[in-house]
Amino acid sequence: MPDFFNEKILKKIKENETDVVQINNFLSPSECNYFLEYFKNLKNRSVGKSEHIEREESTKIFFQLNQTKELQKLYEKLKVHLGEFYVNDFQPHLITSRYPLRLHVDTGKNPNDLIYKNVIIPLEVEYDETSNSHSPPNTIIFKNRWYNQSALFTKSTDNDKDFIIKDKYGNFVDIVNIDIFYQTIKNINNEIIKFENKEFNISNKFKDYIERLTKIKRYNLRTNKHIINNNDFNKEHYEKYLTHQPYEDCKSLEIEKVVETKVGNLIYWDRTRIHCSDNFIKNNVKSKTLLALFTSKTKI
Ligand SMILES: [Fe+2]
Repeated sequence: MPDFFNEKILKKIKENETDVVQINNFLSPSECNYFLEYFKNLKNRSVGKSEHIEREESTKIFFQLNQTKELQKLYEKLKVHLGEFYVNDFQPHLITSRYPLRLHVDTGKNPNDLIYKNVIIPLEVEYDETSNSHSPPNTIIFKNRWYNQSALFTKSTDNDKDFIIKDKYGNFVDIVNIDIFYQTIKNINNEIIKFENKEFNISNKFKDYIERLTKIKRYNLRTNKHIINNNDFNKEHYEKYLTHQPYEDCKSLEIEKVVETKVGNLIYWDRTRIHCSDNFIKNNVKSKTLLALFTSKTKI
């Protein structure tokens, strides 16, 4: 693959690389609750605007670090640990994940951006209370790095049309080609149909939702170029963390750190590191909500 970042920038990106960092109790429980409430209100006020994205698998609410006094204070507090940083290319957001993220990297799309750290602060974890056992979700951060634009890592690179939606029973289902699914359901009204052995309740609202998905342009490049050797991924690690992802996609990857999603903690790692969620659904986690920032070392 040709170099993506310009030579000088790439050198500086590498100079800023460090181990994964975790700071315990960065925010107090009351600060976490304050931000959760604040963003809930912000979302309600932004209905119909483009300040939030609502999907089955996740909700994102976008914000600026200078939009309130409390957020400015948070920015200053983050700088104590991270040093000076900026946000250039992807707006800070609160994300609630209801389905685990797959292997990806958040390196952005600007070859002149001196990308720095992925920063997350978990604010809430919700468990399925009907089950009698559960364990906390984790972020899996790999040793493997990616010096190209933002990417999703998969062996099936020919298809940009797969989406995770919910079936009639509320279970997450991976639809490999949303266009084919939409063509199948578009003339059906208020019926239950079977598609790839799953049942769906086809209402007008559901059809509108699926039609919207067919029009989405993905931000990430899809590539299998992360596979740089023939080494199989550790099978034990796979079974424990990554069963939401095909095993073959994990070839040549090695885990650097498994970081628990602990409310109030600050976690950051180099934006060049490949990462993903663990398969928290299997541990009876319903959702996790965290603040996420993609930072840069200089302002563009
Ligand atoms: Fe990410």
